[in-house]
Amino acid sequence: MNVKESSKIDRMSLTLLAIESSCDETSAAVVQDGTKVLSNVVASQIDIHKEYGGVVPEIASRMHVEVIMPVVDKAIKEANIEKENIDAVAVTHGPGLIGALMVGLSTAKAMAFGLNIPLIGVNHLEAHMSAVHLENNVEFPFVGLVVSGGHTSLYLVKSYTDFELLGKTRDDAAGEAFDKAAKIMDLPYPGGVEIDKLAKEGNRDAIPFPRPFMSTPTLDFSFSGVKTSVLYYLRKHPNPSLQELKDICASYQEAIVETLVSKTLMAAKENHVESVVIAGGVACNSRLRELSKEKLEQEGISVYIPSPKYCTDNAAMIGSLGGFMFQNGTTSELSLTPFSTSRPKYGRGRGGQAKTA
Ligand code: KG4
Ligand code: ZN
Repeated sequence: MNVKESSKIDRMSLTLLAIESSCDETSAAVVQDGTKVLSNVVASQIDIHKEYGGVVPEIASRMHVEVIMPVVDKAIKEANIEKENIDAVAVTHGPGLIGALMVGLSTAKAMAFGLNIPLIGVNHLEAHMSAVHLENNVEFPFVGLVVSGGHTSLYLVKSYTDFELLGKTRDDAAGEAFDKAAKIMDLPYPGGVEIDKLAKEGNRDAIPFPRPFMSTPTLDFSFSGVKTSVLYYLRKHPNPSLQELKDICASYQEAIVETLVSKTLMAAKENHVESVVIAGGVACNSRLRELSKEKLEQEGISVYIPSPKYCTDNAAMIGSLGGFMFQNGTTSELSLTPFSTSRPKYGRGRGGQAKTA
């Protein structure tokens, strides 16, 4: 295919269309130079999946198909640009639900082919950390904690496009642990948001839930045990009052948040970094935002957490990382395929079917 040569594009004013459809949000954004958001449209399916207590992959794919083109058109309109002004299309190609990813990926390929511009396949988890560049100037290297519904991982981020995996969850992700415990307590989906709300009026010292791996030197996490301990606690103490429920939420949230913060601090110290970025949906959690600042800033480490709208899934973060990848000369073939899970191996490398100019 005759793609526009990246070297011929004015690299100081790169305009990217970005598309995200890895889970239950359909999003499109127009981002300039990896940092300036001209538009960021998000169509959430939460209300539909709520009925089922979690994301139903088949429904998610169908909903993406219904709304993807209106969302893309709206993003271009709100950015006040013409399609012809777009220099490249960035798209999430994983990790995520394959059927859901396929919708965004096919749309991005069609746009890239039709407009004769490059395609850039972006890793969703790395993009969560890139969201920080939309609002802050952070110096490299920094430690990045990605906490979402599907992932909990620590990275050493050496540049805009160089991410080294340091540790990750061995079972449930932090968001998953919030959502599953909420389900056990009969709270609505997504449970993380509800637990955060109820915890505000609860006693975080009421129940000593376990802090998995807290005192071991690994940078890996494990949240399935603490989630099960909520189940056992409720079996022993059925029908809690509203105040008891608030105490369970506050104590449970504290166990997860303390673990996240202590591992992040350990990673920051081991790697001698001065900054930490916390990103992903769970980074909206009010206690995580509070405790991370308190504990890390005590040690002289600056903490950056994107605004909530850039923590939950959005295409602006894809446009940010896509922009930096493009500036590096990295684009993808139109044969790019989606992938469902994060790379199993530790260490460097972004994978995918990227080519470097
Ligand atoms: O990053 P995200 O929007 O989607 C994924 O890539 O997974 O994260 C969604 C997750 C859900 O598990 C949701 O419960 C959690 O983020 N979440 C929260 C809060 N807001 C969203 N968890 C705890 N406290 C919150 N305030
Ligand atoms: Zn996400």
